[in-house]
Amino acid sequence: MAHDFNSRIVIKVIPLFDSRSGAALPRPPAAYVAPTGTVLDTRGRSLRDLRISVTDRCNFRCVYCMPKDVFDSDYQFLPHTDLLTFEEITRVARIAKDHGVEKIRLTGGEPLLRKSLERLIEMLAKLDLDLTLTTNGSALAQKARSLYDAGLNRVTVSLDSLDDATFRAMNDVDYPVQKVLDAIATAAAVGFKPIKVNAVVKRGVNDHDIVNMARHFKGSGQVLRFIEFMDVGASNGWRMDDVIPSAEVIARIHAELPLQPIDPNYSGEVAERWRYADGSGEIGVISSVTQAFCSTCTRARLSTEGKLYTCLFATTGHDLRGLLRTGARDADIAAAMAGIWAQRADRYSEVRTAQTAGMKKIEMSYIGG
Ligand code: GTP
Ligand code: 5AD
Ligand code: SF4
Ligand code: SF4
Repeated sequence: MAHDFNSRIVIKVIPLFDSRSGAALPRPPAAYVAPTGTVLDTRGRSLRDLRISVTDRCNFRCVYCMPKDVFDSDYQFLPHTDLLTFEEITRVARIAKDHGVEKIRLTGGEPLLRKSLERLIEMLAKLDLDLTLTTNGSALAQKARSLYDAGLNRVTVSLDSLDDATFRAMNDVDYPVQKVLDAIATAAAVGFKPIKVNAVVKRGVNDHDIVNMARHFKGSGQVLRFIEFMDVGASNGWRMDDVIPSAEVIARIHAELPLQPIDPNYSGEVAERWRYADGSGEIGVISSVTQAFCSTCTRARLSTEGKLYTCLFATTGHDLRGLLRTGARDADIAAAMAGIWAQRADRYSEVRTAQTAGMKKIEMSYIGG
């Protein structure tokens, strides 16, 4: 879809008081003051993508995301009253759409743990955006049909290895790989197409399975993407030595299953695409560490309790729940959102160092992938 990068927001100043008498004038309808339209940040990036975390909980304890020693039985997850309601989430999404958002991704934690998620999907589907969800697949077989019927357009399943022992060790709750594969098959049968499969690669943990995974999904119609292990949050013990650069992933696969680079589906796509030379499908690599893509990053993230973050590696967010729960008008929320985006200067992956990796950043399980 073509974007109009030249349009700017126009904020009309509407007088609230009569300039001569000082008497209050009737409050203008929200539509007059809502600064809708494309918003650009300080680096000229528009807001196109809203990722919404619907729960900070997960039934897995992936070693690179929710290590068990940190996310243990004492860990304080958000209380239910702190969570945005479905109505609040939908309202934020509608206002974000007015600012140019075209895609919504529901994340977690594990989003399918949120009760009655189908109801939220039905509400969001009415906005007529690209509506997608990232899941660990454990509840997908059971919910695929209802998610599809509710209006979900696409699903992405996280799956780090096909080797059962490796997968069980990575999710750290002994979850068997076959169940995730069955869920992918069920979701495909219901009509989700193509399903993307995301694998985070950690050196010495699952990199021995890269080519095997490529071979398994080659020709399946599903799109496998390998993700460089990132220093998200502050608890996954990230070290550069644990990262397998995407170039190495591609080289290993290409040596056995020849690949050719292909163009992105859209400008700013996170994954770099490669097709099999024999025409049997494609794979992707996501290289936030070795080839940062901040210059085209159009993503905002809404946390479970209503904070807006403008970077996956942010240390602080902007509270929208306060506005939502104190009678703010759509126009006020739209203006707040535009103001937050207009000030955005984030480019963490371009400036990552050993020091920044150790900063107290928000956790991936809190803000979503
Ligand atoms: P499509 O809508 O299918 O194109 O999805 P996508 O390409 O945006 O990918 P997805 O949402 O599945 O993201 C895949 C992974 O890429 C995430 O789980 C993160 O690990 C990483 N990722 C996504 N967005 C960002 C980002 O803004 N910054 C960084 N550093 N990593 C990101
Ligand atoms: N590095 C890269 N990707 C990660 N994810 C979670 N933690 C990390 C990390 N440290 C991504 C995975 C998972 C999604 C929910 O978040 O891709 O599929
Ligand atoms: Fe859960 Fe996904 Fe994090 Fe794994 S990566 S612990 S499945 S939120
Ligand atoms: Fe966007 Fe931040 Fe990721 Fe860069 S590091 S691509 S600015 S979310």
